[in-house]
Amino acid sequence: MEDDYDLEQLYNMIFKRKSFRRFDDSLTLSEEELKAIRKKIKSLIPLVNNIEVRCKAVPREKTTSKRGEYCLLIYSEEKDHYLLNIGYMFEQLDLYLASKNIGVCWYGMGKVKEPQYNNLKYVIMMALGKAKEIEFRKDYRKSKRKETSLIWKGDLSLEIGDFVKYAPSACNTQPWRVLCENNTLKIYRTTQIKSIMPKEKVPFYNSIDMGIFLFILELALSHNNFSFQRILSLENVDSNLIPIATYLLEKRRIS
Ligand SMILES: Cc1cc2nc3c(=O)[nH]c(=O)nc-3n(C[C@H](O)[C@H](O)[C@H](O)COP(=O)(O)O)c2cc1C
Repeated sequence: MEDDYDLEQLYNMIFKRKSFRRFDDSLTLSEEELKAIRKKIKSLIPLVNNIEVRCKAVPREKTTSKRGEYCLLIYSEEKDHYLLNIGYMFEQLDLYLASKNIGVCWYGMGKVKEPQYNNLKYVIMMALGKAKEIEFRKDYRKSKRKETSLIWKGDLSLEIGDFVKYAPSACNTQPWRVLCENNTLKIYRTTQIKSIMPKEKVPFYNSIDMGIFLFILELALSHNNFSFQRILSLENVDSNLIPIATYLLEKRRIS
């Protein structure tokens, strides 16, 4: 795990990041920045071990994306929880890049020429490009999110629901629901989603969203001095609320 300073820096980026839909074409990523991105990708922490994940950065023109200087194409082995794993890993990159003034947009709509890479399945892309500090989010409270009371039930004393809800999600569907009781968090994905996304694509993208959410939740727990044990659920429940994970929390004593 990264040290606390790095986690704290990533936590702060929850409020700075945003989805970049317009990139300043006069700015380009330097060779050092590209090198730093490659290095960061190698250090991303997986949610689930032993799922092979590969990615490659290609010039935007090699994809259907109209934005970004590069698109990062992400491929994965299709094992249990692989979509959660992709969300969890690459949200770390999204937040890290915000700290380096590199704009990102998770881009589910993008299409690639190669749906396979070394037998791994194409999952999603991220559009990337250099940006100016001023283009990042200034007041996160102005970004559109659901009322906390809708996504967070039970014990409210943790006071993190108001922050974790700023996680990005496909079409801003925010499929996460949390029940907090007796120092335990139960995380669900709701299937009651209203969206312009084709219905059959919702479970795919919302599973990536849930992985993103888990990473952001864990940053917020660390920020609030909680240590935790995470137990991923077996996702085979046919319900409006699909269990994703349970977190057993313990408040760290500050010496
Ligand atoms: C898995 C995923 C797929 C996304 N796909 C697209 C996309 O295809 N096009 C787009 O403009 N935004 C896309 N987004 C960005 C979301 O629309 C955005 O995260 C959401 O509206 C919240 O806004 P924010 O990221 O600026 O906080 C995607 C986000 C996620 C997490």
